[in-house]
Order: sequence, then C-alpha cells, then structure tokens
Amino acid sequence: MVNENNVDFGYKKVKKTEKQKLVNKVFNSVAQKYDLMNDITSLGIHRNWKNDLINWMSPQSTQKLADIAGGTGDIAQKFIKAGGNSANVFDISEEMMQIGKQKYENCDKLNWTIASAEKIPAPNNSFDRATLSFGLRNFTDRNKSLEEIYRILKPGGRLICLEFSHIENDFLRRLYDLWSFKIMPLIGEKITGDKEAYIYLVESIRKFPKQAEICHMLSRAGFSRVKYRNLSNGIVALHSGWKL
Ligand SMILES: C[S@@+](CC[C@H](N)C(=O)[O-])C[C@H]1O[C@@H](n2cnc3c(N)ncnc32)[C@H](O)[C@@H]1O
Repeated sequence: MVNENNVDFGYKKVKKTEKQKLVNKVFNSVAQKYDLMNDITSLGIHRNWKNDLINWMSPQSTQKLADIAGGTGDIAQKFIKAGGNSANVFDISEEMMQIGKQKYENCDKLNWTIASAEKIPAPNNSFDRATLSFGLRNFTDRNKSLEEIYRILKPGGRLICLEFSHIENDFLRRLYDLWSFKIMPLIGEKITGDKEAYIYLVESIRKFPKQAEICHMLSRAGFSRVKYRNLSNGIVALHSGWKL
C-alpha cells in the first residue's frame, strides 16, 4: 500500500517532513565543489544544456527572470548575458548561493533570495520568465512548487525547466548507467568527500518521472502549450509551459 506521508529520496522512502533536510544536507555538503563536479561528471556538457535552455527562452531586454532553485546562479547569469533585464535567484541553500554571489559579484542585475520553491516570496504576476534547472527532482512537493512558479509569473509568462530525464536507446542507457552508478559516486567521493550525495543524485535521476509525466505535471499546475525537447538523447530534457 502507498504511504502518502512518504516520498522518494533516491531509492529510499523517507517521511515527507524529512526529505528537505536530507536534500539540504546534500547541497550544503557539495556546494564548494558543485560547479567543478558538474563540469567533470557531465564532461562539461551541462554548459551546453544550459545554453540550450537560454536559447529556447530567447531573453528580451524588458524581461525579469525568476530562477527557481538557482543554486550557484549559472542560468540567471546566462539570462542576463543573453540580454535579459534582471534575474532573481531563489534557492533554499545559503551555501549554494554564496558560491554564486562570489562567482558573479560583478553582475549587478542579479538578485539573490533564500527561499523554498514551495513558498516563493514574490507577489502574484511579478516575473516575465521562470527557469528551473536541475531543481524539480529535489523538491518534496513538486506540484505545489510548480503552482507557486505559475502564481509568480505574469500572464503571458513562460517557464522552462531543465532536468535529467530518460534515455530511450538501450545501448546508450547501459553505458550511461555504468558511468552514473559506478564512476560518478567515486568521483564525488574523491572531489567532495561525499559519495552518498552522488549516489542520491544518480538514484534520484532514475526515480524521476518520464518526459510525458512532467508534461502532465506542468498542465496540472496551470501551464498551457506544454512541450518538451530531449537533449543528448534524453539524458536531460527541457520542458516549456506558458501562463496564458
Ligand atoms: C542540482 S542544484 C541546481 C542548481 C542550478 N539551478 C543549476 O542548474 O546548476 C539543485 C538546487 O536546488 C535547491 N533546492 C532544493 N530544494 C529546494 C527547494 N525546496 N526550494 C528551492 N531550492 C531548492 C538546492 O539548494 C540546489 O541549489
């Protein structure tokens, strides 16, 4: 029987009230080496995925972005660099944001707010665009978070979500599994000293819903014209939805 008080934390089931603490422990622990680990474990390709997100969004000089679970600020900075007006990074981890603030200290169009995606401290209809990059998978209440993002977007606003997804091709999937389950936790241990954090990362990717289910989640939260694009054969997917 399904226990509704439990949620996935990687392959483990944990109490809903516990998951956020466990997720915070992961990101506080790896924050100092988070960017380096992204470069190593994706062989630098996460930069292309993030550029693809920004290209699809095509920022305009009048647009304000809310980058939810923005971490060390890569997406927000790319949005500004591509011509966006301003960006506010919202993230629950002060440690992750501190790294971002140092990294982008010269960018005065970035603002930083410690906040949960489940309760975003912003008025209704206040942002033109929202991004969610590798955040959704970590949330305890994904539906509530998507509803919050919908709430703070202006009518005509758009969300693009970048997240790990599912590879269709069997051969590639086996190769990717080998890399993820055998190699990534070892690299994580060597570089961050926290092997468990990278075991969680890999397990949480496998437990994450498939592309079509994410489309349903976005539609349930109110988004229209929902669609997705696979990148790198479905290792990650971009999902887009509009508040119309
Ligand atoms: C994998 S990192 C992604 C960071 C950044 N968006 C990127 O693409 O590199 C996930 C981020 O989600 C944040 N996070 C986890 N749970 C959150 C929540 N409930 N609300 C807001 N941020 C959250 C973590 O602190 C972490 O910075």
